[in-house]
Amino acid sequence: MKGLKSKVGIVAGGGRGIGAATARRLAEEGAHVVVGDLQGDWALEVADSIRAAGGSATGVMLDGTNAESQAAIVACAIETYGGLDFYHSNLAGGTGGDIDILDCPVDVLDTSFAINTKSHFLASQAALPRLIERGGGAMIYTSSGAASAGAAWQVAYPMTKNAIHALARHVAARFGKQGVRANVICPGLVLTEAVKQHLTDEYVERGLKAVPHTRLGQPEDIAAAVTFLASDDGAWVNGQVWHVNGGGQMRD
Ligand SMILES: NC(=O)c1ccc[n+]([C@@H]2O[C@H](COP(=O)([O-])OP(=O)(O)OC[C@H]3O[C@@H](n4cnc5c(N)ncnc54)[C@H](O)[C@@H]3O)[C@@H](O)[C@H]2O)c1
Repeated sequence: MKGLKSKVGIVAGGGRGIGAATARRLAEEGAHVVVGDLQGDWALEVADSIRAAGGSATGVMLDGTNAESQAAIVACAIETYGGLDFYHSNLAGGTGGDIDILDCPVDVLDTSFAINTKSHFLASQAALPRLIERGGGAMIYTSSGAASAGAAWQVAYPMTKNAIHALARHVAARFGKQGVRANVICPGLVLTEAVKQHLTDEYVERGLKAVPHTRLGQPEDIAAAVTFLASDDGAWVNGQVWHVNGGGQMRD
């Protein structure tokens, strides 16, 4: 893809799954990648594996829900590679106890918002001034098909994911004239290590039946879309919510 060589980007929640695949793909395209994760050792391992494959990467511990930690990962990108061109705000978690509205405890909602919404707000506050001073750049947020699926069994996670769409549209509208693009990817069911560990074969089989495709998603499918949005090939895409899901939900 065009324009990624020597660009500098952060992948938050890059220690495994979609984030790790995205960090690898960005590095393959020639970008310098700072991999951040709450599990700092996972971030280090991903960065090590990128360097072993000939790419350029640094791993750091990141708590995305903490403003100082977000400032620190942005500072790391600037100190290590001289600037920041894009930020893939991808992390998520805290879905335990998230059930239907009548039974979902308020603290589950608070935790979900901290991890799945506030972290993206803080990432934007930390990264945007640096993108603007560089003459522009890209914010790419990971949401979920759950934002629009209307699941009866879960309330907080879809709420927190919808909030990201509003954040991205705000950033796109507010900073587009300064060269910043902000977009959202909504993955369908993607067979990450965690999904494979935690979901039953029956759930995965049902997931495949619901998709008009030959297979479910792989982390690399999402990595490709994120990399496009970070690259110059995505230069005229701004303020969009893209569903990358094998056709599992078909949306305008
Ligand atoms: N896998 C899927 O099927 C699927 C479907 C729809 C949406 N998504 C979204 O894609 C993104 C990545 O999902 P995944 O399946 O790769 O998940 P994953 O659980 O494999 O990876 C998420 C990473 O985020 C990290 N993380 C969690 N909280 C953090 C925090 N506070 N600070 C820093 N890092 C933190 C975790 O340690 C983990 O490494 C998420 O936003 C998720 O909601 C995934």
